[in-house]
Amino acid sequence: MWLTGLLAAAALVLTAPRWLPARVVALRAKVFAKVNGDNAITFPNAQVGPERFQEVYGHPAANGRSRGAALSDLFWYWLSPGAEVHQEHLEAGPRYDDVARTTRALLSGPADELADAAARCAGRVLDELVTGRVTPVRLRDLMVPVWAEYCYELVFGEPCPRAARDLIAGHADDVVTALKCTGLRHPARRERLTRYLARRVAAGDVRRPLPASLSPAERVHYLQGTFFNTAVVQLSEAMAHLLLALAQHPEVADRLRRDPADDRYFAHVLDETLRLYPLFGIAHRITTGEIDLGGGTTFPEGTVLCFSYPDYHAAGHRDPGVFDPDRWARVPARAAHHIPFGVAANRPCPAWRLSPLALRAATAEVLRRFTLHSTVTHTRSLPNRGPCLLVRADGPPPRHLAALGAFLRVRDRWEDVWRSVVQLVLGTVMVLHARRLRLAGRYFETHDTAGCPPGHRPPDHRERAE
Ligand code: HEM
Repeated sequence: MWLTGLLAAAALVLTAPRWLPARVVALRAKVFAKVNGDNAITFPNAQVGPERFQEVYGHPAANGRSRGAALSDLFWYWLSPGAEVHQEHLEAGPRYDDVARTTRALLSGPADELADAAARCAGRVLDELVTGRVTPVRLRDLMVPVWAEYCYELVFGEPCPRAARDLIAGHADDVVTALKCTGLRHPARRERLTRYLARRVAAGDVRRPLPASLSPAERVHYLQGTFFNTAVVQLSEAMAHLLLALAQHPEVADRLRRDPADDRYFAHVLDETLRLYPLFGIAHRITTGEIDLGGGTTFPEGTVLCFSYPDYHAAGHRDPGVFDPDRWARVPARAAHHIPFGVAANRPCPAWRLSPLALRAATAEVLRRFTLHSTVTHTRSLPNRGPCLLVRADGPPPRHLAALGAFLRVRDRWEDVWRSVVQLVLGTVMVLHARRLRLAGRYFETHDTAGCPPGHRPPDHRERAE
């Protein structure tokens, strides 16, 4: 009897990598939904299918960002300090316009200069950090310093000193680790970057004027949130997905390596990567008025609309789960359910032009130096940070590559078991902590959507600039 019990327990433990992570993820989703307590609707759904998804997303009343959703407390918690002036979370109004204008200015420039800077930063970091003939890396960790240097150059217009890179990379890593619930926040680490940026902003070192309608402290937080968190994290995650997909589809990597001038094929590879692994799982909006879709389908003011990128991107494709860049030669991206940078009608990504240029240049630097090999699980949220082997391209493949690949696979499966439990525990802790702090809820008790105490209006930025 006891032997049967022992065998059953052993079987349960040994097969844990197969069943435990998915169950824990489902449980975490339930905890999040319950604690946040929002009356949220996720699209596409049976009522509003993929064909009407963009109509709802782009509806003029689907324009609330933070006010009125319990979910906002959690996002503000993860992004703090300064979530109240992060472009993604600002409500529409003069402060938002001012911030969006500044972001556009900092992201603009001739295409070749933007691409050259990405190649330079990638080359420098790769030559510094990847020195062995075979180097095991976590792709996200390798990419964070690359994009930290790049974003520093966008903001300050000069090469990034090592100390600044460490501050930026430490901050970005802290935010993305907390967002994925694989670690807790470290406010002191974030604060160190705030102090550094405050000194640089006070010295007038930023290469474009900062939003005049923000206070000096808010300008620092704006830069920290938009450029040294969002930009660094998004570019690092996109690049980690792209490189992991190339590691698992060597024929695609070979084709890119053979013909680096074929920008059309690179566009297909990037579209396919962001189709299967969109950086946003869900983007949300809070309705500021009623949305009436006809036929009895209405969403009242204050509804939290959640737009599921993976579900939308999967709709209408044959074999949606298969990584196939050539599908884009058959179906142009414009004709598909494909919004890797959001919807044009409702606050799309301001880096939709820059990101492909920069990613392409940095990818060419990686492929020129290395072949990539990985046997790990590739999921959209990439909590494993993309374990991968980088092998120098200018020599024969090492003989023990297959054994290293087998080791990566087994380690990844077992790490997944442990990590899923950690994510459940830390995720629950952070959700509860965020609910107690109520950063967004308390902010809107004392400020209107324009960011002013009730009864005050912000000075028009043109008046302030005069
Ligand atoms: C491949 C890289 C990137 C992808 C795939 C991406 C994707 C997206 C998506 C889908 C949205 C819309 C979310 C929504 O509708 O709520 C968005 C918004 C945004 N992104 Fe990106 N992004 C990338 C890189 C960047 C970079 C480099 C920056 C640099 C500043 C950036 C800054 C922002 C900001 C500020 C918003 C909010 C826009 C607003 O509300 O006005 N993103 N991004």
